[in-house]
Amino acid sequence: MMISDCFPRCCLVKMKLLPLVMFTFLFVPTLCEDSSGAGVRVVVEEDSDAVLPCSLSTKESIVGMVFDWRKDEGQKEVFFYDSGSHYNNGRRTGQDEQFRGRVSHYEDQLMNGNASIKIHNTKVADSGIYSCILPKLNPRQTFYIELVVERLLRDRSGEIPGASKPSITILDATKDWSLLQCEVQGASPEPKVQLQDGSGNILPAEERRGCYYVTLNITVTKTDHYLCVLTQEEISHQSRVETFVFISGQISVSIFYSQHHFNSSCFISLKYLRQL
Ligand SMILES: *[C@@H]1O[C@H](CO)[C@@H](O)[C@H](O)[C@H]1NC(C)=O
Ligand SMILES: *[C@@H]1O[C@H](CO)[C@@H](O)[C@H](O)[C@H]1NC(C)=O
Ligand SMILES: *[C@@H]1O[C@H](CO)[C@@H](O)[C@H](O)[C@H]1NC(C)=O
Repeated sequence: MMISDCFPRCCLVKMKLLPLVMFTFLFVPTLCEDSSGAGVRVVVEEDSDAVLPCSLSTKESIVGMVFDWRKDEGQKEVFFYDSGSHYNNGRRTGQDEQFRGRVSHYEDQLMNGNASIKIHNTKVADSGIYSCILPKLNPRQTFYIELVVERLLRDRSGEIPGASKPSITILDATKDWSLLQCEVQGASPEPKVQLQDGSGNILPAEERRGCYYVTLNITVTKTDHYLCVLTQEEISHQSRVETFVFISGQISVSIFYSQHHFNSSCFISLKYLRQL
């Protein structure tokens, strides 16, 4: 078995020569690098499109050739092109269900020896090692590309058990202040819960938690939108709930403190003073 050196121009992919055995892959820990320093990995965020590069350094046309994209040591058929025939123009059987309707090639690039594909709307499950095989070249060529699809932080409540939704309540209010409570029940893994004002500032709230049942209390003295934000990093889940608080009173910090004897770390400082 022979392993070629990196292509001088197109080192986004590693080329290997496997003359006889198709799926006896041999991975080498060194990465080919192109002049821009890009490696054999393609990293995208989930739900976005990924271009998997595969090009012949000779730039010879592959319009009338065969190229075959596979994943997971050849087990999953991703895309197959044979002299103009492929899954998007009538070829019916073979493509793995996971990739149906989501893979396209670059027709106008074939004449330059470019067999790159685009995977649309990527899922975390699309992550893995892909091979781009040109079986009819002499010698046969195979390129390996690693795709990494990163999970986005987004609201997954209802999707994953334990991905909770917070709730926010106004427990008490006077004309000068409101006591807000943010509550999270049944969250797992352990959540981070924060209260934020309308500008996104994190507010110092009193927190109590037990078995991932979390309550946050805060006394606010400013008319604003308030958000309770729950984050569970491990499952890339974030959910937020918002409430609007209107404070009608004309207030000042010193009077407020002396009248109510609140622990100063339990409410935010005054940023808004109503004009008389
Ligand atoms: C191959 O085609 C893709 C899609 O147009 C492009 O992004 C890529 O740069 C091309 N590769 C080469 C080596 O020209
Ligand atoms: C929040 O305030 C309510 C009502 O005063 C109280 O019952 C609860 O224990 C408080 N929670 C925290 C975390 O301070
Ligand atoms: C205010 O509350 C915080 C959190 O409960 C506590 O750690 C701190 O000691 C309190 N400060 C005073 C002055 O009571």
